[in-house]
Amino acid sequence: MAAGEPIKFGIIGCASIAQKVSRAIKMSPLSTLYAVGSRSLEKATTFAKDNDFPETTKIYGSYEAVLDDPEVYAVYVPLPTSLHLKWAVLAAQKKKHILLEKPVALSVEDLDVILEACKSNGVQFMDATMWMHHPRTPQMKQFLDDPENFGQLKSMYSTFTFDAPPHFIENDIRVKPDLDALGALGDLGWYCIRAILWAVDYELPNTVIASRNPSINGSGVLLSCGASLYWEDGKVATFVCSFQANMTMDFTATGTNGTLRLDDFVVPVAENKASFVKAAKSWWAKRLLGWMPRTSEHDVSTDLTQEALMVEEFSRLVNSIKTEGSEPDTKWPVYSRKTQLIVDAVKASIDKGFEPIEVVS
Ligand SMILES: *[C@@H]1O[C@H](CO)[C@@H](O)[C@H](O)[C@H]1NC(C)=O
Ligand SMILES: *[C@@H]1O[C@H](CO)[C@@H](O)[C@H](O)[C@H]1NC(C)=O
Ligand SMILES: *[C@@H]1O[C@H](CO)[C@@H](O)[C@H](O)[C@H]1NC(C)=O
Repeated sequence: MAAGEPIKFGIIGCASIAQKVSRAIKMSPLSTLYAVGSRSLEKATTFAKDNDFPETTKIYGSYEAVLDDPEVYAVYVPLPTSLHLKWAVLAAQKKKHILLEKPVALSVEDLDVILEACKSNGVQFMDATMWMHHPRTPQMKQFLDDPENFGQLKSMYSTFTFDAPPHFIENDIRVKPDLDALGALGDLGWYCIRAILWAVDYELPNTVIASRNPSINGSGVLLSCGASLYWEDGKVATFVCSFQANMTMDFTATGTNGTLRLDDFVVPVAENKASFVKAAKSWWAKRLLGWMPRTSEHDVSTDLTQEALMVEEFSRLVNSIKTEGSEPDTKWPVYSRKTQLIVDAVKASIDKGFEPIEVVS
């Protein structure tokens, strides 16, 4: 554990995802839950009570009040996407380090304003893509980087879907054009795109083409969509995201010698154990009666949940800025920006009648 006191977190907004992340802030040894603010004091009070916040937690009836509290060192921002630009920039100006919910912005132009504010104020930025912090993730990467057993990466496939109930399709903030205009693409496609970029070491594709016939709500918000991504060297990736199909969280990467596969990449089916499947140099068994060798399953256990590990990693970076005068880590903003660039390209392709969009960084 790094030296220094635990990082004092403020939460602005009481979205349902904040229940999970506030628990993670309490679980991580490097952070404490210090303050929570909502647009009404009553809502913040109820939220703190329902989620067993420490008695000492400061409760505020506005977001500004959290940002104005000099004791708050970092903020977790689970607000609807359309509010990220305003509040993340203000938080950076008040020198608060920022853990920002995804999708991070409505466009890469907005994100650039946020990242510039973080940079000029010397604060750490990280988006809340939790699965990146599971110990399973580096183990899978090790397999993808194994030239002998995985070989050269050729193709990827990813799906994140769930069957949202009618009240969600009609009323959730994730389908409101003024709050989360990116709909399923921002909420679910974000993870698929991140997984694809992670597998290729964040090398951007040249071209993105959205799949035809996305499902679009009456007010123009995407409920289901997909796209294919193409790289110069022939690599290709396809993803599908939807609020209108049964729960699925698949990721598959195929190399010249092996295949990686998992079916719970966003949220593992169990908190303390996750697994992935490897196939390496499989071939037909005798008389084409099966595979030899068969696929193998690899379990990875963890004491802390992936969201607590995320908070821990973020707090470790903040702590080293605070106590050692380190510069903010630059890889996290880069990952966010590249993911957002692809989100934007998919949206542009849909808007232009499924035309190929050249990705320009
Ligand atoms: C793939 O497997 C073959 C056969 O074992 C091996 O010769 C080769 O080096 C491996 N790697 C790649 C990148 O093909
Ligand atoms: C689309 O979303 C709006 C705003 O949430 C909602 O009022 C409307 O009922 C939805 N329309 C359809 C066709 O689902
Ligand atoms: C999703 O699939 C599971 C298992 O096949 C099934 O039990 C469940 O009812 C399905 N969910 C919905 C919302 O249809």
